[in-house]
Amino acid sequence: MLKYARSQPVGFKNAIERVAIVGAGGTIGSHITAALLQTGKHSVKALTRKGSSNTLPDGVLVAPIDYNDQASIVAALKGQQLFIITMAPTAPRDTHSKLVQAAAEAGVPYVMPNHYAGDIDNIKLGEDTLLGPVAKANRDEIERLGMQWIAVCCGFWYDYSLAGGEARFGFDFDKRSLTIYDDGNTKISTSTLSQVGRAVAKVLSLKELPDDENDKSLTLSGFLNKGVYLKSFVLSQNDMFESVKRVTGTSDADWTVTYESTKKRYEDGLAQVKSGNMAGFGKLLYARAFYPEEPNDILAKAQNELLGLPDESLDESTKVGIDLVEVLQRRVERMAA
Ligand SMILES: NC(=O)c1ccc[n+]([C@@H]2O[C@H](COP(=O)([O-])OP(=O)(O)OC[C@H]3O[C@@H](n4cnc5c(N)ncnc54)[C@H](OP(=O)(O)O)[C@@H]3O)[C@@H](O)[C@H]2O)c1
Repeated sequence: MLKYARSQPVGFKNAIERVAIVGAGGTIGSHITAALLQTGKHSVKALTRKGSSNTLPDGVLVAPIDYNDQASIVAALKGQQLFIITMAPTAPRDTHSKLVQAAAEAGVPYVMPNHYAGDIDNIKLGEDTLLGPVAKANRDEIERLGMQWIAVCCGFWYDYSLAGGEARFGFDFDKRSLTIYDDGNTKISTSTLSQVGRAVAKVLSLKELPDDENDKSLTLSGFLNKGVYLKSFVLSQNDMFESVKRVTGTSDADWTVTYESTKKRYEDGLAQVKSGNMAGFGKLLYARAFYPEEPNDILAKAQNELLGLPDESLDESTKVGIDLVEVLQRRVERMAA
């Protein structure tokens, strides 16, 4: 049933002002937090493990929690209107569920669950990459507990994936080598970390509900139990390579390029994962996205214009990616997974 601001109790404010987040110091969470704080419209409460070594951005309210003490999570979430989960993929499997259950107990109505990936409606891609069923179960749990969700569908993070080693977009900047999948011409959707942050801040800065049945403006409620779709660039590995060469002032002669079929990479990665070697996961995930006949492309669904997201410069984003190489190399455990 559609809800309108007009029929809410006296004192209802038609805005999302109190936002909680897990991962405020993390890869995507830090960008989302920065963008939210920049609007000046939200308080941001960072739920963080007691004793975490992650640095939290200035301006957040810090709420230390303990995943073995559910009451500590519930207490941190009391009074929050929307809860963003950007949980490390390496965290124990039940961590997401602990957060969702605590949100329900605390009375939080809306949750942005872990996803930050491709189209949630592309079931085949989700199954092939092993991520879909897990993310679906997370969303189902949110609904089962009487809450609603918004999933961020942004494709791969361009800057992060460019920097993240051979298993991702094929680039190894230290060795100046590139593995091209198939002929390197398959285009996929990508979003920069900062574009994802902006998109989330835009959605959370909308009115929560339409004023009444005549109000057709964009509202947060229009995104509930759906994906929010965005992109920065739809591009191939060859397009990325051209940009990398421009930004680094290099030419073909400076790079060692090898070619591998996406199908083979996918099968190799899957075999590694099945044998317990999680290093294969990145390989299968990225190879599958570049399948020529069914790439990970969400361009047709991208809501950039609707949300007023800016166009970005590819070469500037490539530079941001290259600057990330060293940062990610320090995250050995994570990048190996
Ligand atoms: N589209 C893409 O290209 C792409 C790439 C990578 C990831 N992702 C997705 O984005 C989401 C977030 O990933 P991310 O890279 O932003 O996460 P991240 O930076 O690795 O971690 C986020 C936060 O998780 C918490 N955390 C870390 N280890 C934990 C543990 N063992 N137990 C409990 N909490 C732990 C930490 O918060 P505290 O220290 O404050 O507790 C950390 O800041 C995931 O859904 C992931 O699959 C998408």
